[in-house]
Amino acid sequence: MQKLISKLPHTGTNIFTIMSGLAIEHNAINLGQGFPDYSMDQHLVEWVNKAMKENYNQYVPMAGYTPLLNTLVKKIKNLYQQEYNPQKNITITPGGTYAIYTALTAILHSGDEVIVFQPCYDSYIPNIIINGAKPVFIDMDYPDFTINWEKVKQSITNKTKAIIINSPHNPTGAILTKSDLLKLQEITANTKIIIISDEVYEHITFDGEEHESVLKYPDLANRSFACFSFGKVFNATGWKLGYAVAPEWLMNEFKKVHQYNAFSCNAPMQVAIHNYLQNPESYNTLSSIQQQKRDYFTSLIQSSKFKLLPTKGSFFICADYSSISNEDDISFTQRLVKDNKIATIPLSVFYENKTDNKIIRFCFAKTENTLKQAAEKILNI
Ligand SMILES: Cc1ncc(COP(=O)(O)O)c(C=O)c1O
Repeated sequence: MQKLISKLPHTGTNIFTIMSGLAIEHNAINLGQGFPDYSMDQHLVEWVNKAMKENYNQYVPMAGYTPLLNTLVKKIKNLYQQEYNPQKNITITPGGTYAIYTALTAILHSGDEVIVFQPCYDSYIPNIIINGAKPVFIDMDYPDFTINWEKVKQSITNKTKAIIINSPHNPTGAILTKSDLLKLQEITANTKIIIISDEVYEHITFDGEEHESVLKYPDLANRSFACFSFGKVFNATGWKLGYAVAPEWLMNEFKKVHQYNAFSCNAPMQVAIHNYLQNPESYNTLSSIQQQKRDYFTSLIQSSKFKLLPTKGSFFICADYSSISNEDDISFTQRLVKDNKIATIPLSVFYENKTDNKIIRFCFAKTENTLKQAAEKILNI
């Protein structure tokens, strides 16, 4: 049989698939993969049904359903005070991951370098490599997962094409502050560096913290792709729908890639989301819902042997298990699924060099009942 030369020779099955598979096999509670186990808002489901019945079932324009684009422009203006043109600056995509991939594909040439902060969401590295570019890794400072901007400055070369940021952050729950964004703006001023900003958890920040979007900072916004996900916002991760926002000079190239890949996205869902977004409560209440879950979960497991790390946004909280075991984190999480019937994610998989600080990630975007059952198992570890 002919052997194909892989474009991604070092890429295997990702940990989320493996852990979710093990959770099913061992009948374990799944606090691994980042998806809610409760139903999404039925009003939104009804909007989709209505759109289908009203025959919004054919292709919408490439950039997206025009009323939805207009609604997003208004939302961005309200939240981030930036004026955008619905046709020129926004494209609806099949998910946030696709938006990031398309942005990277639109800008990268062979030999380019992309600065990536570790730990990082697992799609970034293969997305860079498949485009013939090179990831340049910078570790976030442990244990508070902040970025040392001096290190960033030193890592920039004349090949640096892009920097990927992610706030609120998966897997750590860290957020970038105003001071971080200003530093990034200052470091990249007068360079040709493009920012890819993964903001899929934009509406999930805790303790009164505000989400700092690149779109708030005009100098950054003028050379950034901001990538969003309706799946994460509306508890509908299976919908795989999101969008990218960028200045025209970047969005033009993005659309060239998108045009011959997805071309356009699910029509009835776009119509439904447009209607649903008319009520800002659809996204303004998400932080408090997830914060309650975080607080409920942490109060239940406070007396466990895990040391919980702070989380300021996202669906996730990390925990140090060094007082329980000195196994590596992959072996530890595999044992937890089998022996304790609880699935989590080891943090080392989010590092290229598999840095193991004996940390695991819990997803708390679950029902109270799931969190309670999980806590009972965690307290026995
Ligand atoms: C940081 C981050 N970016 C992007 C995504 C993917 O979003 P989507 O499902 O819309 O592709 C996820 C999903 O887990 C994520 O955690």
